[in-house]
Amino acid sequence: CLGGNGGSDDVIVPGTNSGFAPFEFTQGGELVGFDIDLAEEAISRAGYEVGDWTDIDFKSLIPSLNEDNIDLIAAGMTITDKRQQQIAFTDPYYESNQSVLVSSERDFSPESESDLSGAIVGAQSGTTGEGEVERLVEEGVLDAENVRQYDNYTLAAQDLENGNVDAIVVDVPVAQNFADSRAVEVAFIIETGESFGFGMRQDDDRIQDINDALAEIEEDGTYDDLVTEWFE
Ligand code: ARG
Repeated sequence: CLGGNGGSDDVIVPGTNSGFAPFEFTQGGELVGFDIDLAEEAISRAGYEVGDWTDIDFKSLIPSLNEDNIDLIAAGMTITDKRQQQIAFTDPYYESNQSVLVSSERDFSPESESDLSGAIVGAQSGTTGEGEVERLVEEGVLDAENVRQYDNYTLAAQDLENGNVDAIVVDVPVAQNFADSRAVEVAFIIETGESFGFGMRQDDDRIQDINDALAEIEEDGTYDDLVTEWFE
């Protein structure tokens, strides 16, 4: 099979969706973060060349991978059954739950899902966080017209600060990162028990090399160093 952009098998072109710190975000115009470092380390240890990163909407990542525009998704993407019907995932590299993030400057402090009744709630389009919001609509906790979808989580967090939404549902480590830098706080956690994996095409045999590299990165302490660098 050909690499992304019709390139060679020796190059792995990674794709992501920034605005998801500390996994992937831009700093001085540069794409940085835990996923960026981990993916680059895994690709090069597996013996491939790291192609130029593509930064696109989260919901475009899987189509882009299957259209050969990119070869690997590194985007804090949760391994789900539905996605596994479309793409393959590497071994899991990070565990996460969802959190309900609210403004710390308003007195809306929900303690459980039922407290969200009547609230305006947002999430990024195509994410598992959006899936939780949809579940709350189905369960009758939220009204469908009170749901807001965002192309990226930075815009969602801004809307939360501005009071345009009452809460957003986002992965815990990202919520904590927003809470460190903005006037927002985690109200409560939804225990979804998600595992992140890198996505690759189902017919791309290079996934085995990436898995071997990930195992090595974990065994030799490089993984822990990256965790310390980006999460502590
Ligand atoms: N873990 C969630 C999911 O897989 C959210 C990922 C969002 N990632 C991003 N880079 N914006 O749906």
